Amino acid sequence: MPHAALDQPSPWVARFLGLAPAGGRVLDLAAGGGRHTRLARTHGHTVTAVDIDVAGLADLRADAGVEIVAADLEGGPWPLGERRFAGVIVANYLHRPLLPRLVAAVAEGGVFVYETFAVGNEAFGKPSNPNFLLQPGELLDAVRGRLTVVAYEHGKVETPRPAVVQRIAAVRAPIAPLPKPSS
Ligand SMILES: C[S@@+](CC[C@H](N)C(=O)[O-])C[C@H]1O[C@@H](n2cnc3c(N)ncnc32)[C@H](O)[C@@H]1O
Repeated sequence: MPHAALDQPSPWVARFLGLAPAGGRVLDLAAGGGRHTRLARTHGHTVTAVDIDVAGLADLRADAGVEIVAADLEGGPWPLGERRFAGVIVANYLHRPLLPRLVAAVAEGGVFVYETFAVGNEAFGKPSNPNFLLQPGELLDAVRGRLTVVAYEHGKVETPRPAVVQRIAAVRAPIAPLPKPSS
């Protein structure tokens, strides 16, 4: 089985981004090099990409469909006010105090897709700081009573490297159409 490269979109994000309403704006939080910003553009979404270091997004400045926001999400004010998004994507980043804001930022009919490291990962490498590792069920707790869970996993993966991850896809709707299996 081929190894997924770290600059390739997360298969989890790729699977559930399709639940974002067509043409809607997607938030890529702590976007890094923009692998999910780029994926969302190929899906026809406009994107707001936020990171403290936006150097990895430099080539996207020429794309009018990408709004790049340089912001310190931990030391500065929340940069997005009351804005709501068709999709909120977070991958490989955790700053717990933001979780309620991120859930609130999902527009009616929109999707919340989150994937990052979880407790147990310290056996395999970094991150090992508990501040950066989700507790069992933590993403479920974050959306409970607010969003409808479509899918949730917590466990060990082998690719792109051995790690313990937790991931969720949840929608602000009573029922979501499940994504079609990829061919
Ligand atoms: C492991 S990378 C993940 C990047 C991207 N989400 C991905 O999955 O490819 C973590 C990102 O969080 C960003 N980050 C770390 N601390 C931050 C902060 N205080 N405010 C905003 N972004 C931050 C880093 O600059 C980095 O791009």
